[in-house]
Amino acid sequence: MYRLLRPILFRIDPEAAHHLTLAAVSRVPSAAGLAAGNVREHPSLRQSLWGRAFAHPVGLAAGLDKNAIAVAALFRCGFSFVEVGTVTPRPQPGNPKPRLFRLPADEALINRMGFNNDGAVAVAGRVRRWRGMGVIGVNLGKNKVTPNERAQDDYLALVQVFAPLADYLVINVSSPNTPGLRDLQTQEHLLPLVQAVSAARDRFALADRRPPLLVKLSPDLADADLEDLAIALEQAGVDGLIATNTTITRPALTTPGVQETGGLSGRPLRQRATEVVRLLYRATGGRLPIIGSGGVMSADDAYEKIRAGASLVQVYTGFIYRGPRLVREMVDGLAERLARDGFTHIREAIGADHRG
Ligand SMILES: Cc1cc2nc3c(=O)[nH]c(=O)nc-3n(C[C@H](O)[C@H](O)[C@H](O)COP(=O)(O)O)c2cc1C
Repeated sequence: MYRLLRPILFRIDPEAAHHLTLAAVSRVPSAAGLAAGNVREHPSLRQSLWGRAFAHPVGLAAGLDKNAIAVAALFRCGFSFVEVGTVTPRPQPGNPKPRLFRLPADEALINRMGFNNDGAVAVAGRVRRWRGMGVIGVNLGKNKVTPNERAQDDYLALVQVFAPLADYLVINVSSPNTPGLRDLQTQEHLLPLVQAVSAARDRFALADRRPPLLVKLSPDLADADLEDLAIALEQAGVDGLIATNTTITRPALTTPGVQETGGLSGRPLRQRATEVVRLLYRATGGRLPIIGSGGVMSADDAYEKIRAGASLVQVYTGFIYRGPRLVREMVDGLAERLARDGFTHIREAIGADHRG
């Protein structure tokens, strides 16, 4: 079905196509399920992480459903978890349009959306409605108008709202489209932020449902900085890492005439994102669960991230290029690859590259 639909959608402006599709499936979630097909259960892929059950390791990355309008439809597509947001405390319009660009020859996107979203109150109302449907993560960011010195206030306000609702929380300090945001990725800024957010999470969470706190990192940090940061974040009590966000580098693009600024995602990001998973896993001795994100477009790509050290993976750009069948293909393909390599359970494959 998506094979027929994609050429039509790809003729429309990318952001318009995005809103159209999301609005349509949010009204008729079963249509998404129909397009995706049934995702089979594989006991070898089932995991419990942070006390949450994941039927398989394939989830949806932040940014596709920023406002949590289509969570039911996205679960119907077969994702085992859905990350909504980035949400900021107050609603904000994001950057001027156009701000989303397709690079078909590279199977990539460039975006400079700038955290357009409906704000914490509106998004929380919707997350409340979807709760219990599956694992829902909420990705948190600061408003553009909030200076970095006050960033903590924004994250604390968000945690107050979302700690009782989310299955996991993500501190996003790695999006390239909010000026200065990525400067918060130094130990000096990030550790106090994480400690404050973690304390607020403990205070506002429901007694038996404390959501784990994850930090999403940029692929553009130097290797040594990523390693130091991972160790420091583990010590600061972070429960997991997401590697990675989009890149502002432009590795070997073939689509002609691409000069847009913004974050690059999809195939050209895959290799660097996997490298980052690998070095974070090594730095933390595999103790901290990592969600691999960046250029996951096939079962092979997902398996690569898992062997490098990811416990879970997320897709965004792959979903745009390959459509909802991708989830089912990836899940079946992962189960096949585990069996092929003699693993009886995914936990044996996570970080397998590090063990020879
Ligand atoms: C249009 C677009 C919007 C995005 N918005 C967000 C966002 O709001 N917050 C965030 O943490 N990541 C955001 N991302 C990054 C994705 O979550 C993901 O980490 C990144 O695109 C790499 O994965 P991919 O190669 O599968 O797309 C966005 C990506 C795209 C393409």
